[in-house]
Amino acid sequence: MKQKIFAANWKMFKTPAETRQFFKVMTSFNLKAEMIFFPSAMSVEAALESTKGSSISIGIQNTHPKVEGAFTGENSSTAAKAMGCTFVLIGHSERRSLFLENEVLAEKVQFVQSLGLKAMFCVGETLSQREQNQTEAVLAEQLEKGLAKASSENLIIAYEPVWAIGTGKTATSAQAEEAHKFISQWLEKKNFKNLPILYGGSVKPENAAELISQIHISGFLVGGASLDPESFKKIASV
Ligand code: PGA
Repeated sequence: MKQKIFAANWKMFKTPAETRQFFKVMTSFNLKAEMIFFPSAMSVEAALESTKGSSISIGIQNTHPKVEGAFTGENSSTAAKAMGCTFVLIGHSERRSLFLENEVLAEKVQFVQSLGLKAMFCVGETLSQREQNQTEAVLAEQLEKGLAKASSENLIIAYEPVWAIGTGKTATSAQAEEAHKFISQWLEKKNFKNLPILYGGSVKPENAAELISQIHISGFLVGGASLDPESFKKIASV
């Protein structure tokens, strides 16, 4: 049986009160699945408090790759760790496209790992890159750049085709499996052994079972469908 991981990216949704309400319901399900939630930075504390004593892990969506300093508006990885976060999301396509993060990703992965935090590193191609048969080249380049200073420990990869994020258009299980297999082979070649590879992009209760049945899909990174506890419960129960 493969180890399955279910991660939730809440983006800029949910106040602290809404976060507490969500976890009141979520923790009452007593699910055995491995679950990681990435609330917005403002709701991290509420998430940590309301999941204390459960097996749920909490991560932060973005941190700066320096210990401290004059970086107005940035989140500190050190503070996130001190609060009790165990994961940091790095390289999400919204960070890449809206906040122009690309060159800094390798440094972020390295810094987070040096603190003993786990990096969840995202890769994925746009629709036009897919249509021009560049998917594998794009994935290889993103992996090469982002993992340039990474170690195998404390690392999870998430494959999220940009065209499937928040669009309701999921990759077919065959398309997802093909990309996951490519990523898995790339990782093996570079000596990153046995890393979980999560799929993300419009995962819903209706398509989760089919996607998880693919050999190289270890779990999911879920956006929209993770905001409702009932819906995430169904996904994390496949
Ligand atoms: P989605 O988002 O599930 O809403 O498509 C996934 C993500 O951005 O991680």
